[in-house]
Amino acid sequence: MEFLDNLVLPQSAEHIGLLHYILTLVLVLFVPFISVVFGGTFTSVYFLNRYRKTKLPYYRKFSIELVEFLTVKPLVGIILGLIPLLTAIIIVAQLLHTARIQTVSFLVLSFIFVLAALILIYAYRYSMVSIKSNNFDDTKEDNRKSESNSFYLKSNYGKIGLIFLFIGIWFYTAAITSATNFLTWSFPGVITSIAAPEVLLNLLIFIVFALALSNAAFLFVHLYWKRDKEIIDSDYTKFIKDICSKAGLRASIPLPVLIAINLFSFSGKSLSGSVFIYSVVSIILIFLAYHLFYMIANKNEYRFGSIIFFVLIFGWVALIIKDQKAMTNATVSHSLILSTDYDRKLAELKGEGKIAELNGKEIYDVRCASCHKFDQKFVGPAHFDVLPKYEGKKAQLIAFIRNPVKVDPAYPPMPNPGLTPQEVDAVVKYLLDEYHRQK
Ligand code: HEC
Repeated sequence: MEFLDNLVLPQSAEHIGLLHYILTLVLVLFVPFISVVFGGTFTSVYFLNRYRKTKLPYYRKFSIELVEFLTVKPLVGIILGLIPLLTAIIIVAQLLHTARIQTVSFLVLSFIFVLAALILIYAYRYSMVSIKSNNFDDTKEDNRKSESNSFYLKSNYGKIGLIFLFIGIWFYTAAITSATNFLTWSFPGVITSIAAPEVLLNLLIFIVFALALSNAAFLFVHLYWKRDKEIIDSDYTKFIKDICSKAGLRASIPLPVLIAINLFSFSGKSLSGSVFIYSVVSIILIFLAYHLFYMIANKNEYRFGSIIFFVLIFGWVALIIKDQKAMTNATVSHSLILSTDYDRKLAELKGEGKIAELNGKEIYDVRCASCHKFDQKFVGPAHFDVLPKYEGKKAQLIAFIRNPVKVDPAYPPMPNPGLTPQEVDAVVKYLLDEYHRQK
């Protein structure tokens, strides 16, 4: 995605903070919507299949209503599915600007698959809704064989759409996982990265959550929203209640364990108090959802139908915020590089001379402190041991940092830190000042 890199400008620190908030917001729209569409279409296709075998009319009605209610309208698909994903691509391209990382490519692939999937799923939806309004019924033995065939043919749109959506979700999880593990992620190749265990775990969480949420969403729509619009067929309501609450309960059972495993898989740099807290909040909300599903299934407490949907939505939102926090932590040093770049460009624009004030300490903390300490040896030698020989030879020190050469056989060679000349000047100034101050 190098062309995106060219479009993007360096960011100020405030701007980067803001981008993280906007990213959280658009994902809060995208993720629950796509989960409900995925879970709804999956269940709809499944019950259509069962209808084909059993010819039970409720199966057909359920299958149609699922995809009709849960995908809402194509316009909603654009507003909640496509626009947020497109916005996320632009934001992530800015946040990870110049970092050679596959995240942005994964998001673009995800967008392509989600787009194709939504087109197919809406085609499926319209074919389902049209048979409902035609009152088409293939249980009757008349000459509607051809109509029935063409209908089942169209129902394939649903299946193919579902497969595309699954792939789209897979790329999406790969993108988010790679960004939240920014520091530890080595990017071997596309296949190995999308099949990495962390990605598969997040994919599993997404799919299981999608199934739980879509059942809750259908309970919500059926028991609450559409309640007074239709005369409730109480047998049908009982049928829905049974299926959705049990399926929802079963799907949510593994979630807390999966979320806990995911939490432990984070590397130290991405993990922080808030990442932990948001994971716990999400787990608590899922436990609450267990209870509500159970009350609906066994105690016929239909009024929980609406609450459960929001409980799970908030559970999802907590997970999204958790991932964003982890991503902020993982990319903190990269963000610093970008904002330093921004400050320099800004200074150049303002005409403050070629030697813009760079913060040597910040550069040092990000680019050198992982290997060096002043008073003791670490990966590299202690500064107190080596800096005396550079006394009065600042130019040599600058030359070394710009292009490190092998010095002491007791250490491995120092890798080139890849700093710009201004950055090297700033970091050397900081290094020498600090050395003289501490000496
Ligand atoms: C990945 C680890 C690593 C990073 C990051 C790193 N260094 Fe080093 N540094 C080393 C190692 C290892 C050596 C010893 C190399 C040798 O003796 O050949 C070294 C040596 C040095 C020396 C002594 C050179 C000499 O002539 O003996 C200085 C000064 C130094 N580093 C400064 C820096 C500064 C400033 C940065 C940040 C811009 C930095 N290093 C980043 C690992 C690192």
